[in-house]
Amino acid sequence: MFGRLLANVSQRAPSLLSRVLLTMKPQVVFVLGGPGAGKGTQCSKIVENYNYTHLSAGDLLRAERAREGSDVGQLIANYIKDGKIVPVEITIGLLKKAMEETMEKDEKMCSFLIDGFPRNEDNLAGWNRVMDGKADVKFVLFFDCNNEICITRCLERGRSSGRTDDNRESLEKRIQTYQQSTRPIIDLYETQGKVRTVDASRSVDQVFADVKAILDKEG
Ligand code: ADP
Ligand code: C5P
Ligand code: MG
Repeated sequence: MFGRLLANVSQRAPSLLSRVLLTMKPQVVFVLGGPGAGKGTQCSKIVENYNYTHLSAGDLLRAERAREGSDVGQLIANYIKDGKIVPVEITIGLLKKAMEETMEKDEKMCSFLIDGFPRNEDNLAGWNRVMDGKADVKFVLFFDCNNEICITRCLERGRSSGRTDDNRESLEKRIQTYQQSTRPIIDLYETQGKVRTVDASRSVDQVFADVKAILDKEG
């Protein structure tokens, strides 16, 4: 009787284990869009309403820039001011660490909004190299917003953000980087049917209504 019970359990154990592992595998939504499209604003609202952790690649890079003793602080500062994309070795390390720390604190917190990544081919290659098989990319949430609105919003934000790149000179470069390097990544995901596009030129609440509809459908 006991033997049969044990055999039953051991037979079921692998599937139970793999199911647990499966649910613990990080589930990722990449959040993309031009500078000022409203990625951060919408991610904050998602976190209020859904069980996601928001990780902004830009925020992580700014924190590393400010960290005393960082070997790459000055490099990051230069890239940010120039609107260029920091080499992925740096960014992926910060993202991976933040994901691991989140899940170590609470293993159920395995859904992530990764905001502002992957922004170019180097970012994407780095993700595939380091995270392939370790996380599932569910879809890309794309905040579609024209350049004029993006620039206006960033300049407005620049009045109080203290950011070194919310000025006209940096913004021109950021928009150029977005068009030349990030749009092709969004297009690539589009060919895989993985992009969920939201018209981000409208009010915060109108945009969020569409975001909600997407998340309610897709988790
Ligand atoms: P991103 O993270 O994409 O760069 P943010 O969320 O930081 O963009 O938003 C950029 C600026 O625009 C912020 O000052 C924010 O308050 C404002 N903003 C965000 N979404 C909207 C919106 N839908 N309409 C008007 N202003 C917005
Ligand atoms: O997303 P956010 O506007 O905060 O990004 C600010 C800057 O951080 C970018 O213009 C870029 O210089 C840097 N960044 C990066 N790689 C990323 C995300 C941000 O180099 N994946
Ligand atoms: Mg942002």
